[in-house]
Amino acid sequence: MTNNFKAISFENDKLVLINQTKLPLIEEYIETDDYERIAVSIERLEVRGAPAIGVTAAYAFALAFKNYIGDRRSRFQQVYKRLAGTRPTAVNLFWALDVMKKTFEAKIDSPDLYAELLMKAKEIHEDDIKMCEAMGRNGLEIFKGESVVLTHCNTGQLATGGNGTAFNVIRTGFINNLVSHVYADETRPLLQGSRLTAFELEKAGIPFSIITDSTAAFLMKQGKVDLVVVGADRIAVNGDAANKIGTYNLAVLCKHHNIPFYIAAPVTTIDTGCATGEEIKIELRSKDEVLKIKDVQISKPSYDVYSPAFDVTPAGLITGIITDQGLFKYPYDFSTVR
Ligand code: MRU
Repeated sequence: MTNNFKAISFENDKLVLINQTKLPLIEEYIETDDYERIAVSIERLEVRGAPAIGVTAAYAFALAFKNYIGDRRSRFQQVYKRLAGTRPTAVNLFWALDVMKKTFEAKIDSPDLYAELLMKAKEIHEDDIKMCEAMGRNGLEIFKGESVVLTHCNTGQLATGGNGTAFNVIRTGFINNLVSHVYADETRPLLQGSRLTAFELEKAGIPFSIITDSTAAFLMKQGKVDLVVVGADRIAVNGDAANKIGTYNLAVLCKHHNIPFYIAAPVTTIDTGCATGEEIKIELRSKDEVLKIKDVQISKPSYDVYSPAFDVTPAGLITGIITDQGLFKYPYDFSTVR
């Protein structure tokens, strides 16, 4: 790890999560071995970002069997259903739960099922750290020289088990003198950009400016953006990619201004069961997240709101998808992915 905070760690037989809803003003940690508390953390976005949700859910799954002496199968059904029901879009959650399910099936009669499950959760976490490093390296080829990058939402240490997806491409580019400045979209309504990406850029010492989401077009028109790199929550087999609401806008703007638009995601974000973006379930969030900022009511509670948490960018608008297994270009063919 490069920064002096830990987003997800496992210490003293408990999961420790930085509470992302309090950042950047307060650095507070949630420490728990209660899988239900972890499920609530995922729902409240105290922990968020596709790979981070997967890693966290794996630990939650294991912890559900700590000191558990009842019927293992019924416990499994209850825990799987609860964790799978927390958030629908990030496929990494379901990928991690399925890996845990396979371990559960294989080790169901083990005298120490918890130890077996915990070992698997730690392996998922370790693998995610390695995938982030590989994306950082593989992303270097997208820079044609010292570049100004625009990004959306948060894709760093806070969003993964490691150093990030798109954020680690940017950070690795910065270390190699290939990134001079970052524009961070504030990312309405929950402000993952102005709160979390800004926090991580500050910690990494990367020069940055926060922009409101609606500023991107004006910046591009002025020639101030060399490329855009964002993450993804689920990528269909044809390359259509779901990511934080507003990502599709950026891809359209890039097309208009002839700016490269890249996605960075581990291969665990590719959903082999999903042919196109049409099949991706998009999470709808509560109207309070738009009508209030934190606890301050800024518009009338009676107003109707439409608040999808994600949108889907069509594959044809994505210049390249940076994964831990290399850079893929349109038209996408992930058949070589292991
Ligand atoms: O609602 P969030 O904050 O969980 O959404 C996160 C994103 O959209 C990220 O861009 C995505 O998960 C990629 S994170 C490496």
